[in-house]
Amino acid sequence: MDEPLDRPRGDDLNLDDLGDLNGLGDARDADRAKDADHAVDLGDLLDRLRAGLPAEALITDPDVTVSYGRDMASFCAAGTPAVVVLPRTVEQVQHVLRTATALRVPVVPQGARTGLSGAANATDGCIVLSLVKMDRILEISPVDRIAVVEPGVVNAVLSRAVEERGLSYPPDPSSWETCTIGGNIGTASGGLCCVKYGVTAEYVLGLDVVLADGRLLTTGRRTAKGVAGYDLTRLFVGSEGSLGVVVKAVLALKPKPPRQLVLAAEFPSAAAACDAICAIMARGHAPSLLELMDATTVRAVNALGRTGLPETTEALLLAAFDTPDPTADLAAVGELCTAAGATGVVPADTVAESELLLAARRTALTALEAVKSATMIDDVCVPRSRLGAMIDGTAAIAEKHGLTIGVCAHAGDGNTHPVVCFDHTDPDETRRARESFDEIMALGLELGGTITGEHGVGVLKKEWLARELGPVGVELQRGIKRTFDPLGILNPGKVF
Ligand code: LAC
Ligand code: ZN
Repeated sequence: MDEPLDRPRGDDLNLDDLGDLNGLGDARDADRAKDADHAVDLGDLLDRLRAGLPAEALITDPDVTVSYGRDMASFCAAGTPAVVVLPRTVEQVQHVLRTATALRVPVVPQGARTGLSGAANATDGCIVLSLVKMDRILEISPVDRIAVVEPGVVNAVLSRAVEERGLSYPPDPSSWETCTIGGNIGTASGGLCCVKYGVTAEYVLGLDVVLADGRLLTTGRRTAKGVAGYDLTRLFVGSEGSLGVVVKAVLALKPKPPRQLVLAAEFPSAAAACDAICAIMARGHAPSLLELMDATTVRAVNALGRTGLPETTEALLLAAFDTPDPTADLAAVGELCTAAGATGVVPADTVAESELLLAARRTALTALEAVKSATMIDDVCVPRSRLGAMIDGTAAIAEKHGLTIGVCAHAGDGNTHPVVCFDHTDPDETRRARESFDEIMALGLELGGTITGEHGVGVLKKEWLARELGPVGVELQRGIKRTFDPLGILNPGKVF
């Protein structure tokens, strides 16, 4: 996520107006229960932390610690940290976890806090464990095609470093200039490139993880193959800091592809654009990006940045190729767009023009946040063949509730971001926004999709997780959580 404009955060809002939105009541109850059982002496906690940490690794000033309270998701429960710790070494992380286990203090791991589900939000009295200072790229091996990194490395920093060696690290969330690899692993992030190159999980080969009790676990491999034992590496990807703290990652790299060229196609309806997407995929094309913006999103993006996207279009499709002959591929895809009813097909002439189109797309969420005083962003992913039904159904939900819902989508993945825009000072509009947000997830599940393609569950969607997993899935997942975190100190109140 890029930095928002004046985005309302939960602490600016009267959360009581929203009822038990996003499990807020649950989280508060859990915190109360913990407090009743077990009062932690702050002085004791700080003394023990100081025993294994340099002074500059600890922040205790409440005016500063409060700023570590939440990620980029609005309307999610967030508490007040007791202390923020910024370790630089694995041993320091182990010391923090040992201390937390001894005193049974919750630990909330954080990266750059660009997440969109509240997974990095503090709980009252917790240790916020910010990994941003562990930001070294330890190794780049062109022969093994891997990078070994600490969790605080910024995604774009890694991408540029490997590019200099003729390689690429594809996962590229819109927040790539600020988000960290540790955060990407925690939330299993996606991005724009996934339609061709896949998501973060496909690039994480091995991990070093500090467990709740301070032990260091090494999972996975740095080899091209490896099937020894259960795939614990994959288990940690997307576990949102609830199973352990990633302190090192071995990441797979790809050869650096040619620069991509982008085409913009205007459609008279989102349905027509979806027909084009299905045709492009069914014909075996391999676009490096296939993104959709509806009319609301296009106008919001133009209003934010005067990007000059076509203002009157009902749906704008961006397709890109990083193949040896992108011009020919774009021409073929342009024809498919025209056949599906596109009213205008404009291939970018240069890489620079292409970059501008992508930069515009990356501002979509920030732009939609400026439409009304508040937003809730969904992240439903459906089978690509059901994308049209998802987008039409979302429009019907918006109409039924009299709301503006802008949709941008990683269309080639079937991953939609319906952004419900509403006035948070109007209780009735807020209620309708919340209902729409839920109906969008229900629709996604009905269409064979998932409630979250890339943003994670956090506190935003935990009410919905059981619906997707079912009782057997929930039982087994809770068992896994207990195995890794028997005392429940790792990011409590998140995911479940
Ligand atoms: C994006 C973020 C919101 O796609 O996931 O821009
Ligand atoms: Zn996205």
